[in-house]
Amino acid sequence: MSSEDSTDAGISSNAFAVFILILFGIILLVYLLSNPIKQALNSCRLKIQTVFTARYWRKVAESHKEELDNFFQPLHMKKKEISENLDVLEIGIGDGANFPYYPEGCNVYALDPEDIFQAAVQNNIKKYPHLTFKKFYCSPAEDMSFIKTGSLDIVISTIVCVPLEMWEKF
Ligand SMILES: C[S@@+](CC[C@H](N)C(=O)[O-])C[C@H]1O[C@@H](n2cnc3c(N)ncnc32)[C@H](O)[C@@H]1O
Repeated sequence: MSSEDSTDAGISSNAFAVFILILFGIILLVYLLSNPIKQALNSCRLKIQTVFTARYWRKVAESHKEELDNFFQPLHMKKKEISENLDVLEIGIGDGANFPYYPEGCNVYALDPEDIFQAAVQNNIKKYPHLTFKKFYCSPAEDMSFIKTGSLDIVISTIVCVPLEMWEKF
């Protein structure tokens, strides 16, 4: 074997070692990042799903306009009773599909466990100048301990706790 041949063999075994090292590095990196990547993808999926679900429910709400007008009557009557703005909390507000049904002069307190709706609500409410956005509570209705008892005039909620028999109607 010539000295040229043994140099070639040395270079190729070095290249192989570098290749194995890089491969090992890549495998280690993918392993270390796999959980954060999975979490990021999952949270993306949930956010997209949430937005599309809200859009779907907006369509459902639009097709139930008459029922919603009736449902919101107590809010209109309550507003007539008081001259100042009505403090309204909406539980499970989504992106604010109910805003068209609110009477003039409401302060809106929103509650929803999905933080993605905060920006959507703040954006959507701009289309309804008769309403004033006050606060978004990012929480499920199971915990409303941070809301002071008696601090609100009325609490509303639609299509958040839907009885099973009603699903068939949608
Ligand atoms: C079907 S959407 C209805 C949205 C809106 N209320 C409407 O009528 O168009 C249900 C909403 O309830 C929220 N939600 C789900 N579980 C909740 C809980 N435990 N407490 C409060 N809101 C909840 C969801 O995040 C979603 O925004």
